[in-house]
Parts: sequence; structure tokens; C-alpha cells
Amino acid sequence: MQSATPSLTQALTSPLTLPPRLLMGPGPINCYPRVLSAMATQLVGQYDPAMTDTMNEVMALYRQVFNTNNEQTFLIDGTSRAGIEAALVSCLEPGDKVLIPIFGRFGYLLKEIAERADAEVHTIEVPWGQVFQPEQIETAIKQVKPKLLAIVQGDTSTTMLQPLEELGAICRAHDVLFYTDATASIAGNPFATDAWQVDAVTVGLQKCLGGPSGSAPITLSDRFVDCVRRRQHVEAGIRDSHHQDAQGQRIRSNYFDLPMIMDYWGAERLNHHTEAASMLFAARECAVTLLTEGQDNVIARHQTAGDAMLAGIQAMGLTPFGDLSHKMTNVVGVHIPEQVDGEAIRQQLLQQFNIEIGTSFGPLKGKIWRIGTMGYNARQDAVLHTLLALETTLRRAGCALPYGEGVDAAMAMYGQSEQ
Ligand SMILES: Cc1ncc(COP(=O)(O)O)c(C=O)c1O
Repeated sequence: MQSATPSLTQALTSPLTLPPRLLMGPGPINCYPRVLSAMATQLVGQYDPAMTDTMNEVMALYRQVFNTNNEQTFLIDGTSRAGIEAALVSCLEPGDKVLIPIFGRFGYLLKEIAERADAEVHTIEVPWGQVFQPEQIETAIKQVKPKLLAIVQGDTSTTMLQPLEELGAICRAHDVLFYTDATASIAGNPFATDAWQVDAVTVGLQKCLGGPSGSAPITLSDRFVDCVRRRQHVEAGIRDSHHQDAQGQRIRSNYFDLPMIMDYWGAERLNHHTEAASMLFAARECAVTLLTEGQDNVIARHQTAGDAMLAGIQAMGLTPFGDLSHKMTNVVGVHIPEQVDGEAIRQQLLQQFNIEIGTSFGPLKGKIWRIGTMGYNARQDAVLHTLLALETTLRRAGCALPYGEGVDAAMAMYGQSEQ
């Protein structure tokens, strides 16, 4: 047997301890304490009525979260991209056309997943920091005639929120299915599945819902369900004589096969995966927290925290990124001042203040920081601590900033002007 290394010895002799960080990046963020408590709930068997009742309860809760009557509303086990992958690989057969308007990193993720499904992928793009006009999307739909429109609602890479309200009607008019990834925006920005006629929506817990990553709530319209049911194929070993294969091609992923997952969550309770029970408990508690506070109140809390952070950044003399009229409530991009090393500032915030802010990718790498105010951290004290720490760190790095004006501007947003 090998001898234990110092780090293994420490692991074997001490409980898990991590520094008490304040997570003010674009997600993950600190969880609501009640979500953490729920995750410590002891398990029951996966077909225990107590478990299946809880699964049904979670379906009902997420219908409220998504503002939908869709029967097919449940959880995909895995992080947010598991939900995206389930929606896209179940819907898109090889050669099917999909239109993906891209305005940031996560549009490229949709493209990547659709390409791996061997779909015929068409994209349109706007520069990072902007969003699409509905007419641009309709023009592309007329040209491409896709089976599916797939678009992100809030792209944390650019902080932009794509308006979706008009896209559902456009898609219905052209007989196109409409999918959106609302991972980063749900619960902090308005979302209305049925009113906006969205056919499939996937999200994650680790942003404005205030949970850990690892569960991807999903909701599917009847139109979308009809599309994926045309590819129904029950795996051998659990298949009975009444299970008939549908005409469409078998879905290439077993794990992300939506018809099989629907049959596991549905009345038949047909065995598929073993539900990730602790994540189910977390997802339940995220929804209960949101609905108890009230969706409008939670969105308003995100709006105020986001406005306060933006006002503080601007009062400090820093420049926010992108088209502010389309900024998500819950994250702001900040141009890194030329005279400082952005990564060094982030490290100092982490080491000296226990505060994490985000870096960026692609064309924005090294150019902007991203500061989030989400879920449990969409709070006045979290905003003020972050602004104070950032001001101090930047001043010590040689930036001439006005003393205290960032915090004062943020406090004014909370109705606490100077006496
Ligand atoms: C809009 C969006 N989609 C998808 C993802 C991917 O999520 P995950 O890392 O949970 O798979 C993220 C993560 O930041 C995101 O912001």
C-alpha cells in the first residue's frame, strides 16, 4: 500500500473545510442556506411513494417557476448543459435544420451540441454586447426554414438579455419549434413559457435560483413532446410487449433520451437512471424559496441589486460593458482599467477579501470582469462589500478613484442617500 501524502493525511483526519467566500461572479453563487439544509435530507428508495410524491411535487413547483401548464416539466440530472443536450439531441435528427442566433459564448455551446447531433446548423451573429431584433431572426427563419430555433435568453458571457417575447409567435407562424436556454436568467429576469409560446426551456440552479449546479429543470410543450415521441424507443431489459418503437430515428444518447426520461417521471415510472435525490431536494427548495418570496419580488430584488452594483461601478469611474438597455439584472461586465492586471486584482479580492468576481472568455478575455448579484447574493450587504473591496484593491494597485462614491451610489439605489 502506498504511504499517505500530506494532503491525503489531512483529508483523512479533518472534516471538509473551505474558505467562506462571497461568490459575486456570473455563477455559481452561494446557495440559500435552506437549500443546503434540504440537501442533507436522508434518502428514501427511488420508488418509495414518498420519493415519487416528491418528484410530482417538484414537477408542480417547476410549472410555477416556468409559468407554464406543460405536463412535461421535470429535472434532467446533470448541470445546465445536460438540459440543453437533452433538448437538442432528442429533438434534432441527423440532417434536421436548426437556426441558432449567437450573441455570446453559450450560443456557441448550442451550436456545438447541435453539430454533435449531426443537425444542419445555421447561425446568425451579432457582436458581443448586443442582442438581436426579432426581425433579424424572422428573416433568417424565412431563409433557412429550420425545424428548430435555439437561442439563449441571458448569456452570462456578455451579460446581455435577449428579448424573447415576440419570437414564439414568429416561430408558430413559420411552423418552427422554439427552444431557449434560460439558465442564467430564470428567476432574476421575467420569463413566461406559455405566454411567450416557448416549446422547450432548460435552466440550472446555480444562478438566480440560488442552488448548486447539478440539476437542470426542463419544460416541454405538447408540440415538442410530439416531436420527441416520434423517436420513442424503450431500451431492452425494461421493455414490455406494449412498448412500440416510433418511426423516427432512435435518439443517439441513452442518458438524454427525453421520451425515456418522461416515462420515468410519468405514470409508468419506467426505470431509466436513478434519480439524483439530493439534487432533487435542492431543486425543490430553490423553487419553494422563489415561490414563497414571490417571483415578482425576487426579480425586483435582482433588479435593485443589479442597479446598485451598476451605479456603484459607474460612480467609481469604471465603465460597464455592452448595451445597458439589454443588460441582465443579475450580472454586469466591467472594463478592466488599462493600468491594472485584471487577474491580479481578482486574486487579491479572493485572497484578501474572500470575494470572487468573474473573468471572461473569447473576445472579452482579459478585457472585462463580470460581477454577479444573484439568488442569495442579490443583497445590499453583498453589493456594498464587493464595491468597497474592489475600490480598495484598485486604489492600492495605483488607480485614482473617488473615495467611497461607489458605495454611496449603491446605497442611494437602496434609498439610503447621504444625510
Ligand atoms: C446561459 C448558460 N447556459 C449554459 C451554461 C452551462 O451551465 P453548466 O456549467 O451548469 O453546464 C451556463 C453556465 O454559466 C450559462 O450561463
